[in-house]
Amino acid sequence: VNQIGIIGLGTMGAAIARNFARNNVKTAVYNRTTQVTNEFIETFQSEGPLTGFEDLARMVKSLEAPRKIMLFVTAGKATEAVISSLTELLEPNDIIVDGGNSNYKDTIIRTETLAKHKIEFIGCGVSGGEKGALEGPSLMPGGNPTAIQQVTPLLEKIAAKDFAGNPCVYAFEGIGSGNFIKTVHNGIEYAIMQLFADSYEILRKIYNLSAPEIADIFASFSKTKINGFLLETTIDVLRKKDNLNPDASLIDLVSDEAGAKGTGTWTVQHALEMAVPVPTIAAAVFARQLSASPEIRQIKAGIFAHKNSTSDTAFKLPSVDVFTKDLKQALWLCFIMIYTQGIHLLELTIAENNWNAPATEYLRVWQGGCIIRSEILTQLPTNEYLDEITPLIPDAHTSLNNLIQIAANFQLAIPSITATRDYVAYQSTPDLPTNLVQALRDAFGAHTFARKDKPGTFTEDWSS
Ligand code: 6PG
Repeated sequence: VNQIGIIGLGTMGAAIARNFARNNVKTAVYNRTTQVTNEFIETFQSEGPLTGFEDLARMVKSLEAPRKIMLFVTAGKATEAVISSLTELLEPNDIIVDGGNSNYKDTIIRTETLAKHKIEFIGCGVSGGEKGALEGPSLMPGGNPTAIQQVTPLLEKIAAKDFAGNPCVYAFEGIGSGNFIKTVHNGIEYAIMQLFADSYEILRKIYNLSAPEIADIFASFSKTKINGFLLETTIDVLRKKDNLNPDASLIDLVSDEAGAKGTGTWTVQHALEMAVPVPTIAAAVFARQLSASPEIRQIKAGIFAHKNSTSDTAFKLPSVDVFTKDLKQALWLCFIMIYTQGIHLLELTIAENNWNAPATEYLRVWQGGCIIRSEILTQLPTNEYLDEITPLIPDAHTSLNNLIQIAANFQLAIPSITATRDYVAYQSTPDLPTNLVQALRDAFGAHTFARKDKPGTFTEDWSS
């Protein structure tokens, strides 16, 4: 009798199945293409109790009741198709756990549909890429807590560990909550990646440093709060040589068209619907979209090209050491603001949906295994942290401005850094120019306005 079934033996499904087996969980695996299943079993059966099935119904039958099946199938239509085949094979109280990057709105619909068959459905955010999936992912299951509790002992066996050594799993209560938390995780992931890309852009084009030299600068941040998986990975990527030409850095040969599977866009779409400003995440999504829009880039090519020197004779480029100090402070502030934007979006969405998903838990679950795990999580989101960081913000904001000034002098775009500077500045500006926006709304639409000098609602004929 098998304890868990895994459907889909792509990168993530295969690694998760091996992780279960290595932890002595009797694991049944099924892939639509039988050859994939056979090859998987042949290669990995020595790692633990793995059984491959050519037939989905037989795989389902091999599981102990209530059956627990995890899906690692492409989000969208493929996931839909597997769920509908399973619906005919499962019995009341059986549990499907969707481990793909599904849209939380799809999870809500699927949960309701499956409830009619008394089948439990859990949308589970899984983060960590292939290595994380194999050695310990961060797991964000969301849905009916009673159903989640039944799979939690198994999930705890394969999960990463948080800073205190506890498994990075929590039963988030609320249909779709797990997928939503993972979606925002990815929005944060996009923003941090763009932040490093912006920093790299200045270092390579203004300071003319090579990829390994830039890696050394990033490595000098390893003892700071921004340390974490993405910083380490950036250092590895910048140090990697091309196998075909060992003198060349591989990064210099990588095309700049960035792909995206959708989770960053969902984060921003949802933030717009909720009226939660997430400008750094949005800048990162737009930067990828622009990079991959050949039409737009071709039309504008050359017009805004970066210059090797500045025409402002009064401008003095700081030494690389001075710049590195500014970069260190600026990156710290950007990190805080990126997570703050994500937390803000999560908190409002969690409250609106009446989910039971405490910030302390999703931030804890992000401490290990996932792509955005970072030391910064020790500073979030307690009030002590606010006391601790608030006095540091003015200096860090000056550093952000210094970076922007350098980039502007050489006509370089650093979208995520600029967006963060404006986000911080707008929050702390007492007298915003949006009074003009309000006045214009009233001038052409009689939308009314409030006055600074007396209470009430006013409208005016602005033309006379
Ligand atoms: C993770 C990752 C993983 C993947 C996303 C983002 O947490 O392990 O977020 O899920 O990187 O699919 O991919 P895109 O950059 O292609 O949108």
